[in-house]
Parts: sequence; C-alpha cells; structure tokens
Amino acid sequence: MSKIRRISIAFRNETLDKLDKYMREMKLENRSKIVDEAIQLYLSERGLLMREGYIGGAIVIYFEHEVEHELTELQHEYLDVIISNTHVHLDEKNCMEAILVKGEKSKIKDLISKMERLRDVKVLRFSFFDVS
Ligand code: NI
Repeated sequence: MSKIRRISIAFRNETLDKLDKYMREMKLENRSKIVDEAIQLYLSERGLLMREGYIGGAIVIYFEHEVEHELTELQHEYLDVIISNTHVHLDEKNCMEAILVKGEKSKIKDLISKMERLRDVKVLRFSFFDVS
C-alpha cells in the first residue's frame, strides 16, 4: 500500500456538500480516498499537457450564448490546431461546442486557458492522447 501524508485543504462549501451527498447515496465512507482518486484523474488528463510534444483530442464546452462571438474570435487565432468545430444551440440561452484539435501541446494549452478565462463558459472538459 502507498504511504500516506496528511495535509489540510480548503474546499468550497458547495463542493463538500456535493461530495457528501454523493458519498451518502453511494454508501461510501472514505472521503480522502475519493479526493485522492479525483486528483489522480485530474492529473491523468492534465498531466499530458505538461510535457512538450503533439496531442490530439476533443475539447467540449458548455456556455452562455452571449460569449459565442468572443469564443469564435479566439478560435480564429488557433486555426493551426483546430480541426473541426460542432456548435449546438441547446436552448434560448445556452450552447455547446465540441472542438477537435491536433497539434503542439503549448498551443492547445494556450487555447484552453484562454477559453477557461472567458466569462460565461460554464463547463470545459477535454480528453487528449499523444500523437507522434
Ligand atoms: Ni449557439
């Protein structure tokens, strides 16, 4: 078994409330184990962005339609890594896009961090794999 280290971390109330609700419903008792697994998952996705090289994959975003113009402008700056984009108008206020990318990690990382900084982007998820 791996060694453990105890640390103190602050969470938003709503995050812990959601976690506690999930644990009750799933009849789980070890909160530390879930947080540990969540961080492992986070790093397995984001860790791929750390090293130099090429990746391919998909970015999925859910956002308020007001940000659509800004989002399009931004994507025009990354034509070299964006392969395709599918936009869906979900309702009067919200849209989603699935953006397929391939190219240098540093550029894709830039694109993601700029998207994450846009106001009205509610959810951003991605999944990548190494491309040689
Ligand atoms: Ni739309």
